[in-house]
Amino acid sequence: MNEQINKALNEQINAELYSAYMYLGMATHLDAESLPGFAHWMKLQAREEVEHALRLMDHIADRGGRVELAAIEQPPSQYGTPQDVFEKSLAHEQEVTRLIHQLYALAVEQKDYPAQIMLQWFIDEQVEEEKTAGEILDTLRRIGDRGHVLVSFDRQLGSRQAG
Ligand SMILES: [Fe+2]
Ligand SMILES: [Fe+2]
Repeated sequence: MNEQINKALNEQINAELYSAYMYLGMATHLDAESLPGFAHWMKLQAREEVEHALRLMDHIADRGGRVELAAIEQPPSQYGTPQDVFEKSLAHEQEVTRLIHQLYALAVEQKDYPAQIMLQWFIDEQVEEEKTAGEILDTLRRIGDRGHVLVSFDRQLGSRQAG
């Protein structure tokens, strides 16, 4: 695999691990706000992001590239209301989508066909990620400051299963 693609994939590994770290920050914040269902949802989200990093690592290793793990930036510790949390989460996923599209464009430009096929999974995944974050955000906007409705939504998110 060429150097430029290898470097860009390593940067994406870092972005996925940062995503996991940010979702863990959000989980910690939501646990502290006594919203265990939201916190549970965020912890599963963090696991998925680690899976994304592993996918990229495997792809590089399978093709004889070099995996380089750089430092992961510290995520914020304050995230505000659950609605603020999901606004940040949606904005973050939109940024990751932009990065994935940029990577795909590079793979096309460099005629790296295996990377293109591998990245197609991520393109689909980002559609799902934005859809899910957007739906939860819509629900939270509708709930507004009705605390008892938020508590039942928290319970609903608490039933999310892994995978
Ligand atoms: Fe991801
Ligand atoms: Fe994500």
